[in-house]
Amino acid sequence: MAIPYRITGGGRQRALPLPPKGALLAAATTASVLSILCVLSFTDSLAYLGFQARSVDKRESSRRYLYWGGAVDCPGKHCGSCAGLGHQESSLRCALEEALFLDRIFVMPSRMCLNSVHNAKGILNQSNAASDKSGGWETGSCAMESLYDIDLISRTVPVVLDNPQSWYAIVSRSTKLGEGGDVAHAQGVSRQELKDNPLYSNAFLINRTASPLAWFMECKDRTKRSSVMLPYNFLPTMPARKLRDAANKMKEILGDYDAIHVRRGDLLKNRKDRFGVERSLHPHLDRDTRPEYIKKRIAKWIPRGHTLFIASNERTPGFFSPLSDRYKLAYSSNFSSILEPIIENNYQLFMVERLIMQGAKTFVKTMKEFDNDLSLCDDPKKNTKVWQEPVYTDD
Ligand SMILES: *[C@@H]1O[C@H](CO)[C@@H](O)[C@H](O)[C@H]1NC(C)=O
Ligand SMILES: *[C@@H]1O[C@H](CO)[C@@H](O)[C@H](O)[C@H]1NC(C)=O
Ligand SMILES: *[C@@H]1O[C@H](CO)[C@@H](O)[C@H](O)[C@H]1NC(C)=O
Repeated sequence: MAIPYRITGGGRQRALPLPPKGALLAAATTASVLSILCVLSFTDSLAYLGFQARSVDKRESSRRYLYWGGAVDCPGKHCGSCAGLGHQESSLRCALEEALFLDRIFVMPSRMCLNSVHNAKGILNQSNAASDKSGGWETGSCAMESLYDIDLISRTVPVVLDNPQSWYAIVSRSTKLGEGGDVAHAQGVSRQELKDNPLYSNAFLINRTASPLAWFMECKDRTKRSSVMLPYNFLPTMPARKLRDAANKMKEILGDYDAIHVRRGDLLKNRKDRFGVERSLHPHLDRDTRPEYIKKRIAKWIPRGHTLFIASNERTPGFFSPLSDRYKLAYSSNFSSILEPIIENNYQLFMVERLIMQGAKTFVKTMKEFDNDLSLCDDPKKNTKVWQEPVYTDD
């Protein structure tokens, strides 16, 4: 266990990321503090998500904060290679669970790192795909509130964005009022100890310094049911309002529909062994995600004639067209008039597609994650680290 040190009283200024004076003055009086208080006053009412309403009044009990770092899984020098949305969400969920456990307000990074590998604009316009190798979307990072509805998240886990308008204002306000106490720095300290040890539990801010490479490493005990406080679908149901609105419009147009998620590009990475033989971590994936195999596989689940929404990172124009003799095919590209005006990066697009997939009558994933999942491919999803020769024949 790391021995924490505490910074008391006026010393706090050194530890907190204080903004320039001007910004502070402007921010201290803004409505953001008020709006945070408003958010906190919601008694959790996410009945539709199946959460237990918690009776604690957060205005009284949660005026304390939890800080994990300035970016999810993305320490400055590794920013070019940040993980995809799914990984970053696992990490974010891990941090949110800890805030829930400690009954603290989570200081959320204000930006999400975008992985350029997953960020080609071709998806929206398949006829453009082949020529548009350079992408065209903003790379680097995007504002967290362009992805998530921060207020909606805050009804379950109060969060404040790590930016001058919100977080800095709170810091300056509490400094002025002499409220709150101090900062406890913690690294490698268990969740339970953060809760039980007054050294931490009394601190205004716990500065947690989570594993910078992957925050989700802090949630290794997730296999223990008791440590799971937020379901996997928590963040996927929290997209920003304009993304949810777009998905709702698309769902209305689609009517009754089924969906498949076909992950190809990023997962198909093969490499040659020392004898020059191709090897893959998912030996059946390339085969099973081709239209003729998809058709055979899903026939027992999705009846002929149904509308089939296909979400995929496959860039070859018309790749899935062979399925059209059996299904009425729909892609995000069919909805470019809804999506073009609002989608700025691939994470936003995937979040909309994920809502569409969630709304499907029958949904078939690329690979199984949970026991009841339907999947296109039987290869294990988790990295097996076993490189095998890809299989293209029926076996
Ligand atoms: C948290 O700790 C890290 C490393 O010790 C430091 O760089 C950072 O400024 C601290 N942040 C806050 C909000 O105290
Ligand atoms: C898709 O790309 C083609 C070819 O570049 C272009 O002619 C068409 O206008 C684009 N459609 C949309 C909806 O952007
Ligand atoms: C979607 O677009 C494809 C062509 O890209 C077309 O074949 C298909 O009929 C469209 N689907 C719908 C539901 O409009």
